[in-house]
Amino acid sequence: MKGVVLAGGTATRLFPLTIVTNKHLLPIYDRPMIYYPIATLADMGITEVMVIVGGKSVGDVVELLADGKHFGLDLTYRYQRGALGIAHAIGLVREFVGDDCFCVVLGDNVLLGPPLAHVAREFENGPWGAGTLLYEVADPERFGVAELDASGNVVGFEEKPTKPKSNLIPIGVYFLRPDAFGVVDQLVPSLRGEFEITDVLNHYLPGKLFSRKFEGIWTDAGTVTSLIRAAELAEQESQAGRLAEPPTRPAP
Ligand code: G1P
Repeated sequence: MKGVVLAGGTATRLFPLTIVTNKHLLPIYDRPMIYYPIATLADMGITEVMVIVGGKSVGDVVELLADGKHFGLDLTYRYQRGALGIAHAIGLVREFVGDDCFCVVLGDNVLLGPPLAHVAREFENGPWGAGTLLYEVADPERFGVAELDASGNVVGFEEKPTKPKSNLIPIGVYFLRPDAFGVVDQLVPSLRGEFEITDVLNHYLPGKLFSRKFEGIWTDAGTVTSLIRAAELAEQESQAGRLAEPPTRPAP
């Protein structure tokens, strides 16, 4: 399985913090934000990772992550022009992915808790077309939201609904196969002008979507409130001895 981190976008929800710098470089406790999704992929046992970059300070993102050796990874980069959304960014990894399955993690998602290697293997070896991880939140209207049937099966996802049908959201971890590129090609932008990942996930419902509840602690860090919360959670994990030391970048 290959890995992809999405670190493009304009991060307007964090202005003025992100007027001149890239959101993914902002600190969360003792390390830059992008270290968290990078570690999520490394902990799955993935070694080949493409980072999609865009927005401000792209050179700094590359300088920070370099060739990825300090994370035990082999990193490559691709540039995303504009802020056209997650599904658009996924369309940019087609050649990198080739015939493999891949896991996409959003650059502002912080997953603290059990490594996901077994979940990745389960998707890879299973019959599903795509997959995601679900998590219960208090403010689902900020995210994609799952609709469940009476037996608790996911029957659909809505992006940022005004009346959420559950508290369960797909977090920014997506398991995909090359089949997803055909789906991405057929999408039309949403009202916010983005190609939405929830439309890709809905394509695999009913029946072909893999979903598992994430058993750790999760937050995004794309707003000021969630950025602060992410730092508090990371500090708690660190004090409990559950956060690995951040790797230091070797001299160029
Ligand atoms: C994105 C996705 C949304 C998902 C969220 C997780 O939202 O569109 O479905 O629940 O990431 O972080 P955005 O960051 O674009 O608001």
